[in-house]
Amino acid sequence: MRALLHTALAALLTATTLLAGCERPPVDTVQRGYRGTGMELVYNPRTALAVAEANQAPAAPEDASPDGPKARDIYKNVPLLGHLSVGEFTRQMVAITAWISPVEGCNYCHVPENLADDGKYTKVVARRMIQMTQHVNADWKAHVAETGVTCYTCHRGKAVPENVWFVPAPPRANANFIGDKAGQNTPLKTVGLSSLPNDPFGPYLLGAQTIGVGGATALPSDHVASIVQTEQTYGLMMHLSNSLGVNCTYCHNTRNFKEWDGTPPQRTTAWHGIRMARDLNNEYIVPLTKNFPSSRLGPAGDVAKINCATCHQGVYKPLYGAPMAKAFPALQSVALRTVSAPLPPPISEAQRSVLYFGIDTPVLEGEQAKGLDQLVASMIADKNAKVRISGYHSATGDLAHNEELAKQRAFTVRDAMLAAGVPESQVILDKPAQTAANVAGEDPTARRVEVVIEK
Ligand code: HEC
Ligand code: HEC
Ligand code: HEC
Ligand code: HEC
Repeated sequence: MRALLHTALAALLTATTLLAGCERPPVDTVQRGYRGTGMELVYNPRTALAVAEANQAPAAPEDASPDGPKARDIYKNVPLLGHLSVGEFTRQMVAITAWISPVEGCNYCHVPENLADDGKYTKVVARRMIQMTQHVNADWKAHVAETGVTCYTCHRGKAVPENVWFVPAPPRANANFIGDKAGQNTPLKTVGLSSLPNDPFGPYLLGAQTIGVGGATALPSDHVASIVQTEQTYGLMMHLSNSLGVNCTYCHNTRNFKEWDGTPPQRTTAWHGIRMARDLNNEYIVPLTKNFPSSRLGPAGDVAKINCATCHQGVYKPLYGAPMAKAFPALQSVALRTVSAPLPPPISEAQRSVLYFGIDTPVLEGEQAKGLDQLVASMIADKNAKVRISGYHSATGDLAHNEELAKQRAFTVRDAMLAAGVPESQVILDKPAQTAANVAGEDPTARRVEVVIEK
């Protein structure tokens, strides 16, 4: 009898161990298309409940009065939120603290002695994040509709959002003739633990590689996608399904995955979502790379980037579509879009010049060129003096383009000095440098070239 009990127990244990790899039932389905088309959503009410609990929007703080002095009348450094009343401004700061750094508090971004100081990288990043959030809500309605996003959509009370992605470390050089396995056989959660390439994001959420799997004809006459591209497409699709907590049929009619005719409207929303994630990564996240400490960077030296899971976190609409952004009008429209501030006059001294440039141009406009006169005079007077030229650019927009501009501007200044009679051997050119202070990009002092005579 005892032996029998032991055998039964052992069998039970083996069965549970074997089943641990599978999902415990029950499993339910919801029909989402015509009967017989296989358009069903499979879900497990138990795991669905856990996901639901983790995706509740917090209550908004009480409204503040729009009356009284404006933040810009009281504070020094508020280019983005200065139009709010002091009460509304404080309410927004309190909310941001709850969303990003509830434990560390205000000092996660602020130097306590001087709240106007931009010394902490977190504040510089937060300012750009405010702009990114405004841009999503104002310009990506094709994806976020009127629901919109706040910092909480991604951050959920954490400084670094739970779901971000890095470019994988480059493969180690192989001496054993195995060759490049193209990121395969490295099962990652991002591709559903399958043997698909380990970077389904880089080609689509940074680059603009075409999403697709092969040609329209039976014979290989017009194959638009290689095997690698096909596998990358499937990798991305696994991620789309996982991050939204849905099956492929949420967006596709399985009769034909390529065909748009007869697909659910969610696929169109998803199409915009792919473009939005790409835009946010290229225009906002990647240009901030230099602001982050190295401890925040990935194995390839890149910054943590956005994918569908960053906002969605396992749910078809982030926070089940709770319209929490509505309670924060300051995050709804873009505070500063175009750069219209006039250039300040150049700084013109005997030992130092600072020249300012217009947007996207390496040409010295108006009075700016005169800023070199005094410095050129002292260079010509002292044949041994050396002069150092440094070009600066803002952190807004495309980094490579900005660096090239800063370089061209430095060349413009060098050429002006050579033309004025300074020998080339006395000129030193620095590498282009990014200014952190002006992440917003509207401040013309970020687009400058500094010229200093070395002691
Ligand atoms: C996640 C980062 C972050 C946190 C946390 C944060 N702030 Fe700020 N704070 C900013 C940014 C960014 C600005 C600049 C806003 C702008 O550009 O309009 C700012 C500006 C300010 C200013 C204006 C200072 C000046 O003179 O220019 C005050 C005051 C302020 N915050 C108070 C607070 C308080 C109080 C808290 C805590 C309840 C707080 N902040 C938490 C990011 C943060
Ligand atoms: C679409 C998603 C998304 C939204 C919305 C968003 N962020 Fe971020 N945030 C990120 C990502 C991605 C990073 C990079 C993670 C890292 O710090 O390495 C980041 C980083 C930050 C950091 C740096 C934290 C650190 O310790 O390195 C701060 C501060 C921050 N965000 C503030 C904000 C504020 C304030 C808002 C709202 C105005 C906001 N974010 C909205 C995705 C988002
Ligand atoms: C959230 C919506 C969504 C989900 C879920 C989804 N897809 Fe897609 N799928 C899309 C969109 C959008 C495109 C077109 C992308 C583009 O052209 O930019 C696409 C394209 C494809 C293509 C390429 C078709 C062609 O043009 O060659 C295939 C294949 C595909 N999906 C398969 C799948 C599979 C398999 C799954 C489940 C693992 C899946 N998809 C889940 C939205 C989705
Ligand atoms: C910045 C945050 C954010 C990111 C990143 C994001 N989404 Fe969304 N998404 C939203 C919001 C907010 C909604 C809700 C819009 C609404 O209420 O109609 C939404 C809605 C959707 C819907 C419609 C769901 C439905 O049932 O109507 C789909 C599909 C979707 N997203 C797919 C994606 C895919 C795929 C990606 C990645 C390529 C992505 N999203 C990235 C914020 C985001």
